[in-house]
Amino acid sequence: MFSRCISRSATRVPIPKSAVSSSFTPVAAAVARQTRLPNTCLEGRRYISAYGYTQAKALVYSKYGEPKDVLRLHKHSISAPHATQVNLRLLAAPLNPADVNQIQGVYPSKPPFETTLGTQEPSAIAGNEGAFEVIATGPDVKSLAKGDWVIMKRTGQGTWRTHAQLDESQLIKVEDQTGLSPLQVSTVSVNPVTAYRMIKDFCDWDWMRAGEEWLIQNGANSGVGRAAIQLGKEWGIKTLNVVRERKTPEETEELKQELKDLGATAVVTESELLSGEFKNIVKELTRQGKEPIRLALNCVGGKNATALAKVLAPGSHMVTYGAMSKQPVALPSGLLIFKDLVFDGFWVSRWGDKNPQLKENTIKDILQLTRAGKFKDIPVDEVKWSWNTEGPELAASVQETLSGYRSGKGLLRYEGDD
Ligand SMILES: NC(=O)c1ccc[n+]([C@@H]2O[C@H](COP(=O)([O-])OP(=O)(O)OC[C@H]3O[C@@H](n4cnc5c(N)ncnc54)[C@H](OP(=O)(O)O)[C@@H]3O)[C@@H](O)[C@H]2O)c1
Repeated sequence: MFSRCISRSATRVPIPKSAVSSSFTPVAAAVARQTRLPNTCLEGRRYISAYGYTQAKALVYSKYGEPKDVLRLHKHSISAPHATQVNLRLLAAPLNPADVNQIQGVYPSKPPFETTLGTQEPSAIAGNEGAFEVIATGPDVKSLAKGDWVIMKRTGQGTWRTHAQLDESQLIKVEDQTGLSPLQVSTVSVNPVTAYRMIKDFCDWDWMRAGEEWLIQNGANSGVGRAAIQLGKEWGIKTLNVVRERKTPEETEELKQELKDLGATAVVTESELLSGEFKNIVKELTRQGKEPIRLALNCVGGKNATALAKVLAPGSHMVTYGAMSKQPVALPSGLLIFKDLVFDGFWVSRWGDKNPQLKENTIKDILQLTRAGKFKDIPVDEVKWSWNTEGPELAASVQETLSGYRSGKGLLRYEGDD
C-alpha cells in the first residue's frame, strides 16, 4: 500500500482544470512551484491535494513497438469531477493478447495518441479491459455512486492506469457486486462475451437436441476457450477441445483434466488433432456422426484450423476470431463445394460498438452465471501494481503476454487506495 500525503501547506493558487502531468515535465514542475508541494510528495508518494486533485499513473506509449521498449509509466493528476464526470480507481485489468498487438501497432483498432494526460509526446493509454471502482462523482451524475464497480463501455479507452476520469455515459455499472470479484468483473467484457456471441449468433442450434450437438474449438485453454466450454455446458452443447501439448505427458493430462472439470466433454491435443487417428476419435465421440459438430471456433489458424473444418457436419460454420499461430487459414475447396460450410470472422470490439445494449445484456447474463457459480475464474498470473511499482517492471509483465504455454493470463491488480 502506498501512503497518502495531503498537501496541507499548498498555497491557494488555482491549478489548471485539465489533468496535469508527470513530476518530471515542465508543466508538473510549474504546478509544483505554484502549489509549493514538498518535493517528496511529487517524487515518491501519492497525495491528494487540498483542491481534490488526485495523483494517478498510466501505462502509455507514444510509438508502436514491443511493450518492453515503448511502454512507460506516466504520472499525472486528475481534477475533482465536474458535471457528469466520474473519478475511478483501478481494481484489476487483464493483459490480453490483443492489447499487446495494439501496442505493437499490428491490431486494426488503434487508440488515439493525445496529450490530454500531459505527456510530452502524444500518447495512448494501453489496455482495453478492466474493473474500476467509483471514487467520486460530479454533481450531475445520476446512475453511479462512490463505491460502485464499473467497466468501460467501449474498448480502446485505456484501462492500464491507476485512476481515470470518464463521463458517466462511457461506463457500465455492475448492478450487484455481491458474489463477484474484481478478477471476474475485469475479465468479463472481452473473452466471455466473444465466446457467448459466437456460440449464440453463428449456429442455429436445435434446442430440442440438447446434449446431442457439438462444437469444436482450438486454443481451448484460452480465456475465450474456457468461457466457451462453460457456456456449452450450460446450454447443452457438447464441446470437443483442442490444446497444445505441455512439456510432459503428466502436465498435458493435468490441463485436459482442468478443462474437463470446467465442463469440457472431450479434450484432445494438437498432435491428436493432426494425426490420422482423429477421424476415428471424432466418430467414436459423436456416435458415428449421429451427433453433428455444428460449430468450430478458431483462434489459431494454419493446419490446426483446417483440421477443425474437416470434421464439421455439412452446412456448419467456422468462426475465426484469433490467429495465435500467425498462419493463414487454408481450406480444401471440397469443404466449400460439397459440404456447404460457412466461414465467418468475429470481432467483439466492432460487434460491441454496433450493439451496445446487447453487449451490456450479455455482460449481465455472464455475471449472473458467475454469481451462480457456473462460470469459474480463469487462472491468472497476478501482477501487483502499487504506487511505487516501476514502469519497466509492469512493461516486462506485459511483454510476457504472448509467450505461450502460460499457466495463467497476466492480470494487473492495483493495490493503492483512492
Ligand atoms: N476476435 C475477437 O473479438 C477476440 C476476442 C477475444 C480474444 N480474441 C483472440 O482470441 C485469442 C485468445 O485470446 P485470449 O485472451 O482468450 O487468450 P489467452 O487467455 O491469453 O490464451 C492464449 C491462448 O493462445 C494459445 N496460443 C498461444 N500461442 C499459440 C500458438 N503459437 N499456436 C497455438 N496456440 C497458441 C495459448 O495456448 P498455450 O497455452 O498452449 O500457449 C492459449 O490457449 C487471441 O488471439 C485473441 O486475440 C479475439
